[in-house]
Amino acid sequence: MENNFQMVAKTLYGFEDLLAKELVQLGAQRVKKGVRNVTFLGDKGFMYKCNLALRTAVKILKPIASFKVFDEKDLYEKIYKIKWENYIDSKGSIAINSTLNSNIFTHSQYISLKAKDAIVDRFRSLKNERPSVDLRFPDLKINIHIDKMFCNVSLDSSGESLHKRGYKTATNIAPINEVLAAGLIMLSGWDGQSDLLDPMCGSGTILIEAAMIACNIPPNLMRNEFAFEKWKDWDVDLFEKIENSLLNKTRDFHYNIYGIDKAPSAVKKAIDNINNSKLDSFISIRHDDFFKTSKSSKELLHIIFNPPYGERLEINVEKLYEDIGNTLKRNYANSNAWFITSNKESLKYVGLRPSKKIKLFNAKLESIFAKYEIYDGSKKAKKQ
Ligand SMILES: C[S@@+](CC[C@H](N)C(=O)[O-])C[C@H]1O[C@@H](n2cnc3c(N)ncnc32)[C@H](O)[C@@H]1O
Repeated sequence: MENNFQMVAKTLYGFEDLLAKELVQLGAQRVKKGVRNVTFLGDKGFMYKCNLALRTAVKILKPIASFKVFDEKDLYEKIYKIKWENYIDSKGSIAINSTLNSNIFTHSQYISLKAKDAIVDRFRSLKNERPSVDLRFPDLKINIHIDKMFCNVSLDSSGESLHKRGYKTATNIAPINEVLAAGLIMLSGWDGQSDLLDPMCGSGTILIEAAMIACNIPPNLMRNEFAFEKWKDWDVDLFEKIENSLLNKTRDFHYNIYGIDKAPSAVKKAIDNINNSKLDSFISIRHDDFFKTSKSSKELLHIIFNPPYGERLEINVEKLYEDIGNTLKRNYANSNAWFITSNKESLKYVGLRPSKKIKLFNAKLESIFAKYEIYDGSKKAKKQ
């Protein structure tokens, strides 16, 4: 298609396959996996669609220039040559974010400053007027990535990270990132064909992301703003058309999604967030101690959670993970239980052998996403 251009969707470590699959399903062309990113082709409407509908992307970048760069003067000149007046008015505001992987360039803030000088100087000489810098609410967010001698200049079409879905107004002390939560559910293979439980649900992120997956609801429908809404080529009619076409693809869901938490404050936060997300007809929350609960039906149950790791919350790790193992074994037969923890030691105390272990990161913490298959009746849970 002649209006297609290249885009880069950025993601979290370990989610490249999931993101590439999402992109193919949405209709992207020439999908290519990188490290924590996937590149693809699409047009403007597709860029809107990606921002609204991708669950495992944190940002969608639109590259506008790429070149070899030898020193700071060279960088200045090449950035100066870009036709910035096509992207922003001289009265507008910009913010530049630089990431570097290079021996020549080592100070990202200095690179941002040089790039800003180049843009500002171009406007001054063309229009006698210059855009201002606004790091919080810029009209144009610019991304500069230098890898060795190769420089990519992109426009950030998303703005704030796409994990900011817009439903979470209440946070607890250790909420999981929404993109991570969605990716965990997808990695675990849950497809909405069984009940799903988060037995330590905190603010309810996993439950809300699960309900959106089950009903095929685009995750960013409730988001306040995307950066492309301030672009010169912003097309509100096209955006609404894309929104409506995505809404037409939502589906019904006939199982239960439910959460348990022992902290009353977490229960309140989960309920608030679920109400905000307008998914309260699919999700229920119970105030309880998971270790005193048991499975309510004989049907296969899918369990996903992120227990306290002992990193940010003060806990007795040994006892907590021992109790998790015992509760699953004794009270949750016929379940597939997955949890993510950055505390690798803790897995020793579960007393069950994981059937799968996947390396991921929870923010900066290297973590394990482990699966435990809890069998029914004669087939006992695998002992360590
Ligand atoms: C790391 S947080 C979960 C965060 C959650 N995924 C979110 O997005 O907000 C761990 C949660 O486990 C809960 N918890 C700890 N022990 C529990 C238990 N025995 N039963 C139920 N909840 C428990 C804590 O109250 C806390 O809310």
